[in-house]
Amino acid sequence: VRIVVLGGTGVVGRHVVELAIARSHDVASGSRHNRTGLPVPQHYVDLRTGHGLAELLHPDDVVIDVTNVTAMRAASAISAFEQTAGHVVTAAARARVTRLVLLSIVGIDEVPLGYYRGKLAQEATYRTGKVPVTVLRSTQFHEFPGQMLAAATRGPIAILPRSMIQPVAARDVASALLDAAEGPPVSRMPDLGGPEIHALPDLARRLLRSRNESTRVLAAWLPGRSARLMSQGALLLREGRTSSQTFDQWLTTADRRS
Ligand SMILES: NC(=O)c1ccc[n+]([C@@H]2O[C@H](COP(=O)([O-])OP(=O)(O)OC[C@H]3O[C@@H](n4cnc5c(N)ncnc54)[C@H](OP(=O)(O)O)[C@@H]3O)[C@@H](O)[C@H]2O)c1
Repeated sequence: VRIVVLGGTGVVGRHVVELAIARSHDVASGSRHNRTGLPVPQHYVDLRTGHGLAELLHPDDVVIDVTNVTAMRAASAISAFEQTAGHVVTAAARARVTRLVLLSIVGIDEVPLGYYRGKLAQEATYRTGKVPVTVLRSTQFHEFPGQMLAAATRGPIAILPRSMIQPVAARDVASALLDAAEGPPVSRMPDLGGPEIHALPDLARRLLRSRNESTRVLAAWLPGRSARLMSQGALLLREGRTSSQTFDQWLTTADRRS
């Protein structure tokens, strides 16, 4: 079985590609930009238009979708995820792909953030297709505090919400996605999270210390229902599997890319 990774150049996608090769699969990756140093041929696809999918997908492939969209407001996130997912399910049915595996996020049905409403719409669109779908929901990656810092830093200060998160190694998420691709067809894998729960600002401070950076992190009680729910633990694993690598362990590994 060939594994096609949509978004194989991304934070989790690179791990999916590497582990799929290590598990002796034939692997192809699709995304919009070619990056240097990829271990497999990179095919041009744009899920917003569907361009390139017909050429990339073959009968009996298993497709793992780890693409992303940048929209944060509900209307644009919903429309972007419906569009990208719609193109995948249509092209997958035409190509007679065996199975689709989609990565989603723990807690998206509890927290009404625009981006999470987009992820719910992505899951729902996947379910409308003819090809069987397996969804894996994970908690935030170890890379998440760094992504939030990059977005929130203004000069010497970063203001971050007091969200509680349970960060997980992107490599462990990639491994679970491959288990889903290789295993029997199930609609939903057990949710996956990391071994520890932390406040987001605390992890951002640890990351900055490890980089010897002096940015000051202010932990804020942000207004709104989503911020309140996230500070109360709505993004944490309720039931499912926990993986073993902690945030501090990840900080010292070669997996770390930020
Ligand atoms: N970050 C987290 O903590 C976290 C936690 C749980 C689940 N997730 C989910 O995991 C998925 C992947 O997240 P990530 O952080 O790994 O994303 P990422 O690093 O932003 O990577 C996204 C990948 O998708 C490709 N891509 C983006 N738009 C595309 C398009 N229109 N057509 C084709 N390829 C496209 C990107 O390459 P190009 O830009 O070159 O096209 C890249 O390879 C997301 O759906 C996210 O919701 C993330």
